[in-house]
Amino acid sequence: MKALALGGCLFIVAVVFVFSYYGPWTLPQPQETPDNSLLDPHEVALAQVDAANLYAHLHELLRIKRSVLQQLRDLEQKCSAASLEVNELVRRADEIRTDIVKLNASVIFLRTSNKYQELAQDELKRQMSPKVMPPLRLTAASGDEELILPPPRRSDACTMERCFDYGRCPLTSGFPVYVETLTLSGCADDLISKLAKAVEASTYVSSSPAHACIFVGFVCKPEDVERLRTSENWRGDGRNFLLFLGGGVILNGNGTGRAMVLGVEFEDFRRGFHVQGILNDDLPDLTLSPFLLPLMTPAHRKRLLFFDGEYRGTSTSTGASDRGSIVQNLLDLKKFGSNGDIDITFSCNETTSTLPPACRSNTWCLCGSTAALEKALVESTFSLIIWNGGMDPTGVSRVLLGLKNGAIPVVLGKPILPLSENIDWLRATIQLPRARVTELYHILHSLRDEDILAYRSQGRRLWQTYFSTPSAFVDAVLDTIRLRLNIAALPLRATPIGSFYNYTSVWRETLTAEEENVGPVELPHASDTYQRNYTSTTMDAYRSWNDRFDVKSMLPTSPFAPILPGDAQFRGSQFGFRPIGGGTGGTGVEFSVAIGGNQPREQFTVVILTYQREVALSATVARLNNLPYLNKVIIVWNSQMEPTDLFTMPKIHVPILIHKSATNSLNNRFLPFDAIETEAILSMDDDMHLRHDEIVFAFRVWRENRERIVGFPARFASWDAEHASWLYNSNYTCEYSMILTGAAFFHKYYTYLYTFTMPDAIRAKVDEFTNCEDIAMNFLVSHHTRKPPIKVTSRWTFQCQDCPVSLWEDESHFTERHICMQYFERIYGYMPLLKSQFRADSVLFKNRIASDKQKCFDKV
Ligand SMILES: *[C@@H]1O[C@H](CO)[C@@H](O)[C@H](O)[C@H]1NC(C)=O
Ligand SMILES: *[C@@H]1O[C@H](CO)[C@@H](O)[C@H](O)[C@H]1NC(C)=O
Ligand SMILES: *[C@@H]1O[C@H](CO)[C@@H](O)[C@H](O)[C@H]1NC(C)=O
Ligand SMILES: *[C@@H]1O[C@H](CO)[C@@H](O)[C@H](O)[C@H]1NC(C)=O
Ligand SMILES: *[C@@H]1O[C@H](CO)[C@@H](O)[C@H](O)[C@H]1NC(C)=O
Ligand SMILES: *[C@@H]1O[C@H](CO)[C@@H](O)[C@H](O)[C@H]1NC(C)=O
Repeated sequence: MKALALGGCLFIVAVVFVFSYYGPWTLPQPQETPDNSLLDPHEVALAQVDAANLYAHLHELLRIKRSVLQQLRDLEQKCSAASLEVNELVRRADEIRTDIVKLNASVIFLRTSNKYQELAQDELKRQMSPKVMPPLRLTAASGDEELILPPPRRSDACTMERCFDYGRCPLTSGFPVYVETLTLSGCADDLISKLAKAVEASTYVSSSPAHACIFVGFVCKPEDVERLRTSENWRGDGRNFLLFLGGGVILNGNGTGRAMVLGVEFEDFRRGFHVQGILNDDLPDLTLSPFLLPLMTPAHRKRLLFFDGEYRGTSTSTGASDRGSIVQNLLDLKKFGSNGDIDITFSCNETTSTLPPACRSNTWCLCGSTAALEKALVESTFSLIIWNGGMDPTGVSRVLLGLKNGAIPVVLGKPILPLSENIDWLRATIQLPRARVTELYHILHSLRDEDILAYRSQGRRLWQTYFSTPSAFVDAVLDTIRLRLNIAALPLRATPIGSFYNYTSVWRETLTAEEENVGPVELPHASDTYQRNYTSTTMDAYRSWNDRFDVKSMLPTSPFAPILPGDAQFRGSQFGFRPIGGGTGGTGVEFSVAIGGNQPREQFTVVILTYQREVALSATVARLNNLPYLNKVIIVWNSQMEPTDLFTMPKIHVPILIHKSATNSLNNRFLPFDAIETEAILSMDDDMHLRHDEIVFAFRVWRENRERIVGFPARFASWDAEHASWLYNSNYTCEYSMILTGAAFFHKYYTYLYTFTMPDAIRAKVDEFTNCEDIAMNFLVSHHTRKPPIKVTSRWTFQCQDCPVSLWEDESHFTERHICMQYFERIYGYMPLLKSQFRADSVLFKNRIASDKQKCFDKV
């Protein structure tokens, strides 16, 4: 039709053209009469008449031609007008056809969506019915709580099963601890006082002995046991008591009844009931700045192996000959077998050294002060410890000092190390049978740098988490007992939203932006929380203590929870799953309407930090309207000023909460708000422009990499060879090590770590500069996972997201970020950031067409 109209017009135009070209435009004017005296006048007259006739005729023809031409022109005009009209009609028809296709897609989409919606309703109903019944009350171990049984003859005959009253500690009790202060007044032991203070500050402490699960008592001197026995809470046999044994107090289990004892010297020690502690005078004083700890690199230090000490005991004491041969072997090693990188001394220089008064007989005493030893350890790769057999307080001190200073403890003999019920000491210490003493040098030299640094960093984390302060140690001890009882830790307190203005009254209706269907229309759906109370104390215990270092508190969800095998979602565990195409897969609507993947369906929460940029904020929020999988928007209002009257919050399909920050701190961006009900958080700047399909794709990538930061603008940590330090780099590079949190997904778990367990010094630096919070988050996540973040596909607009406006700002902004990198590295003791060289792209071939026509790449 369109082609025909066009053809017709062309034809007419062609005719006009041909005609006008060949047709004469003007007639020749009659020429001047020539000299015709030679001609017959009559003929001449006749000819003149003919010419006149011809002339008139020609004129007539010319007139006709003009009129035809005019008509042709009119026709042509009409024709092209008609042709335009036709074009317009054709265009409209095309539009309508596209609309039909789109609408058809929407209908299919909505229909499929509705199916899922019904499924969700079903699931909700099932969820309403109680999933777990509250447990029945436990019966007391003795049958009757008040019945007093005769205490066991020997304390080392005790096991938890035989001596502990589980009846006081129901799983849901929260592990209440009562502190028995009877023996504290008049206790001269400095360490015991510190520990007592730490116990009293513990979150588990309860003021009611009637409801306590365990009782904590302190033994400063041997007679204190007698005093404790007079306490009403002792109940005749000391059941559920935990006794902290002061330094130098040696009990032989006589009189402690059913009580558990924590100490380093305890003759009737029984593994799994009593607890190995570190209660001796050498516990370093620990309100240390992190800067006093040495960097972990380089792997090899000035000295390979260090030992400095002297055995105090009679030559006839047990094991003397054994000890003698070890010492001789080591001295031979130093003299003949090494490159002079061994620094060992077995007898103190009496003239200069002052032996610590705490050194008891029959132990390897330190020559000189702890400080002097630490100074030497900082320069040593390994620290030698000759285990004195059984429970060796000095040995324990030496191990801990080694960990603290990065000198990997090499223990000769079979040590009993503190809290070894849960701590895997083999990952932080090298333990050798005494018989291998001659092979020691070979072993130490054969270790690769990777292994040395793995030992060292594990040791440092153990020391920092469990031994660096009295309260760290007390928490670790209480957690040991709590874990035996399989009681989950107490949840950390989430941050309540500090409510703000009542925006419901000033909400502005949002025009729905025309976005394609990239996900289903859903009701808000919260992730399940606190589902792993029991398993967190059983199957997770090892990793909590030795990998995640998060045993202290229970978090609502974790990125490290186990996932179901691929077939479980089709065989019995389908609850909440939305497999693509019901499991058959699919490309178009099937893919966009179902989240699929390896986890049940879930949503995410957008957290936007804003500071006096109301217009940008309003636009950013409006763009989130109808964003699939969005659960809620939380706006962290950092400005201490109220918004202007003109400011209105757009109304979108999910709730918007505004948190009025108490202070203008960038750390507020990562607060663990109680209103965040999803595992996934999308952190956004107030001016970040992301398309819906980009967000949903990043969300899909995050769901497969829940422990990492997944986001858009990437940055690089570059090495400044000149100053041997790190620089923040936003230049183009083919490697990246950070994702800016102005547009990134991460797990809510990390907001708790950022707020509660990350060193205070980092948050303080963020506040000092009002900068670097994103760098801090990247350090934190890489430190915990030892993995780099993931960048997802993006457009050019992210080019310079963190570039400030003015040059001056630019300079100071970047200078601060360089300083942050170096400062954070110092605090962690190493550079946690790792590099990545890839970018995640969707398998879905992304063209902007209706979702029922979309295809995935045909070769993936
Ligand atoms: C709409 O979708 C249905 C089902 O996929 C299909 O059969 C029908 O041809 C589509 N109609 C148009 C106009 O595309
Ligand atoms: C235990 O203590 C009692 C008195 O307090 C004493 O008679 C007894 O000999 C002690 N037993 C041991 C094995 O020390
Ligand atoms: C012991 O001290 C003396 C005097 O200070 C000194 O001369 C000597 O070198 C020291 N010996 C050792 C082994 O440190
Ligand atoms: C907010 O304002 C709305 C409309 O004026 C009112 O219905 C609602 O009760 C208010 N809410 C609060 C918490 O003040
Ligand atoms: C797990 O513990 C938390 C906090 O103590 C509690 O709120 C939650 O209900 C518990 N979950 C289950 C399944 O028992
Ligand atoms: C980025 O590139 C520019 C130009 O090549 C260079 O001057 C600058 O030092 C680079 N920045 C960093 C942090 O490496």
